[in-house]
Amino acid sequence: MTKPVWIKHASQLATLALNGKGPRVKEEMSELSLIEDGSLWLEDGVVKAVGTTAKLEEQYGERENEAEVVDASGCLVTPGLVDPHTHVVYGGSREREFEMRLEGATYMEIMNAGGGIHATTRMTREATEEELMEQTMRRLDSFLTHGVTTAEGKSGYGMNIETELKQLRVMQKLQEAHAIDIVPTFMGAHAVPPEYKGREDEFVDHLIKEMLPVVAEEKLAEFNDVFCEKGVFTPEQSERILEAGKDYGLIPKIHADEIEPYGGAELAAKVGAISAEHLLKASDQGIRAMADAGVIACLLPATALYLREQAAAGRKMVDAGVPVAISTDCNPGSSPTTSMPLVMNLACILMRMTPAEALTAATYNAACAINRQDKVGSLEQGKQADVVMWDIENYQKLQYLFGVNHVKSVWKKGIQVV
Ligand code: NIG
Ligand code: FE
Repeated sequence: MTKPVWIKHASQLATLALNGKGPRVKEEMSELSLIEDGSLWLEDGVVKAVGTTAKLEEQYGERENEAEVVDASGCLVTPGLVDPHTHVVYGGSREREFEMRLEGATYMEIMNAGGGIHATTRMTREATEEELMEQTMRRLDSFLTHGVTTAEGKSGYGMNIETELKQLRVMQKLQEAHAIDIVPTFMGAHAVPPEYKGREDEFVDHLIKEMLPVVAEEKLAEFNDVFCEKGVFTPEQSERILEAGKDYGLIPKIHADEIEPYGGAELAAKVGAISAEHLLKASDQGIRAMADAGVIACLLPATALYLREQAAAGRKMVDAGVPVAISTDCNPGSSPTTSMPLVMNLACILMRMTPAEALTAATYNAACAINRQDKVGSLEQGKQADVVMWDIENYQKLQYLFGVNHVKSVWKKGIQVV
């Protein structure tokens, strides 16, 4: 039996608790439900009580000596961060491409010449399951030290059945092997593999007829994602793949309008995607369609920075009523980072979101983007005891003192892991 944990005297406790279940929009994104001199009682893996320290003294004062008492004075306490978009399971790395891009090559040129996603696919196909486990574990450790307690993970560096399943099985095993909860997404449609070059529609047929049924039958994924981009999958092909996934109970997600405007945001609304990702080049019409359909914009400002592109119009999307989440996009090509705090900083600096909006986007709205809002993303009675204590007094400092990791301690399901 693990001891209960009593976190006391937090300078600021941002619970993110709000009535209502859906993702937060507009002004709701600024409501952090702050408590001064805040306290949390964690027991049996869940939050048992939240409030001021005075209130918890009344409720739990008698049980103080049973608990591990943590003095959080001078600290901000928040829910564990949620990263709703990662490609964390991959083999190898691509530092040479980083140099090539600085020398002038574009991301798509490198990919079309057999590098980029194709290079990682080769390395991931070659890696054993054990090697992938080992490499992914190290990245997850880094996520945890940066305050992330739940992360989505995509396949998509296999693009053949064996390797797609290998990636998804690694995620399944990591559920047991690592403290972070991983939420799996099938992304067989990450690129057209070289063996299908010039036969794109045949690959789409193969993915729909051969891959999707196996992934669904083995219950290896909850979501189905497509890279809808000029030169990768057209909106028509993407729609076929996402609709087919729906027949197997897989919820659509879509990498949309990243490099060129391509109608991805509009398609996300049309197919009822839970989220659309990137959206650097999303049209005004697409943004409106997403707001109307309640599609979450999962924005990836670290990717924009790393590709030296103008970030998505985060400010405009929040103002238009689109629920916004943010994510690292952790992957070996366009965003090799495991730092959600950096992503929050960039959401403010590059997308003019406010510090409060950035925190909502990295917690509650991020949880909504992977359908986990009933368990994580806010600190409320009965929810998972995933908590971060930061070595700063308030949430503004989290975004203001940028590029630094302020994490002091992390609890996952009530157990201290950092
Ligand atoms: O989200 N855009 C497509 N996929 C990834 C990059 C994958 C890679 O370069 O390996 C992304 O940016
Ligand atoms: Fe991505």
